[in-house]
Amino acid sequence: MFTFNFFADVVRDDDPTNNVPDSIFSKLGMQLHRRDKHPIGIIKNAIYDYFESNYAKKFETFEDLSPIVTTKQVSVLPPYSKLASLTGKHHEDRRVSVSNRVFSNFDDVLVPADHVSRSLNDTYYVDSQTVLRCHTSAHQAELLRDGHRRFLVTGDVYRRDSIDSTHYPVFHQMEGFSVFSPEDWNESGKDSTLYAAEDLKKCLEGLARHLFGAVEMRWVDTYFPFTEPSFELEIYFKEDWLEVLGCGVTEQRILKQSGLENNVAWAFGLGLERLAMVLFDIPDIRLFWSDDERFTSQFGKGELGVKFKPFSKYPPCYKDISFWISESFTENNFCEVVRGIAGDLVEEVKLIDSFTNKKGMTSHCYRIVFRSMERSLTDEEVNDLQSKVRDEVQRKLNVELR
Ligand code: PHE
Repeated sequence: MFTFNFFADVVRDDDPTNNVPDSIFSKLGMQLHRRDKHPIGIIKNAIYDYFESNYAKKFETFEDLSPIVTTKQVSVLPPYSKLASLTGKHHEDRRVSVSNRVFSNFDDVLVPADHVSRSLNDTYYVDSQTVLRCHTSAHQAELLRDGHRRFLVTGDVYRRDSIDSTHYPVFHQMEGFSVFSPEDWNESGKDSTLYAAEDLKKCLEGLARHLFGAVEMRWVDTYFPFTEPSFELEIYFKEDWLEVLGCGVTEQRILKQSGLENNVAWAFGLGLERLAMVLFDIPDIRLFWSDDERFTSQFGKGELGVKFKPFSKYPPCYKDISFWISESFTENNFCEVVRGIAGDLVEEVKLIDSFTNKKGMTSHCYRIVFRSMERSLTDEEVNDLQSKVRDEVQRKLNVELR
């Protein structure tokens, strides 16, 4: 699927598992989170400030761990598996640093073998055992094994997903992790899990206030394979609740795997784009990738909470497409085809009609919203994009256009 030499020793072009399109591959190493004048970098620095000023015990920070990780349980891999062979390779002059460590996206954080997040539909596979990390939790176990006890890991994460203003296949997360010892919770008289859960919520509520001042937020109970109990924090934004982070008390098995027998820990994973959208009033997640000066010039180092002034919104163009789907059809695959053709000119893909006929055939109708953030699109170019989408959908997705 891609032909960059960068991966030549790891991936064959014809590896059937590889589902990383060039558009995604080209995002590796961009490291928006390391740009001090970019909203993602500004928010990262503000979070660092919060931890520095509120915690006497330092949180170590990691921000250039490789996004290329394994699905496997690292403790059973031979040391420095093939991933390490990528060390020091360059991709379009951007260094994707790959250290000697090997990180595991799934096994080491107890993601079950049949969990949907492992599917080719949800995750970008470089080959059958190598993925673009879908969360910064991929680094937890290895950093623990390396002896780190309190840390923040920031990086780009990759997920196949639907298309709308808050979803983009590459985004940034910050993982927080803190290990406690009996002396920490004994003093409180509380059970260790309760102690960690309360400390975690207090920490994140304080962080939300540090970033937003007064903001409406709520906790929602949820499930993650690596934490119990688990929670999500949602923030009220543009008349809706927006999930901005997941967190919880780390499963004992993860600590024990790393030789921690008498401890408890909490972990969280923040979505930096989502936080930045709320904080800077950024209406569309695609803007984070824009080089347009009208976007980039609005943000300055350390300037938190400047409200983004939208440059005039250019008109949207709506196109519908209907087809009979086959069993293998998925919306993520469809979105990937659309994004592959239209790139950041696609704003949203929405299922607007679905029905099954007497023969049992199911038809879907999707509305595609095309809109550039930088200029007006011409009818001609939108028609051209739509016709390419129609061709490609038919060719790649085994559907019958109507
Ligand atoms: N990894 C989770 C996600 O990406 C977030 C999370 C991190 C949840 C740490 C619990 C603990 O959704």
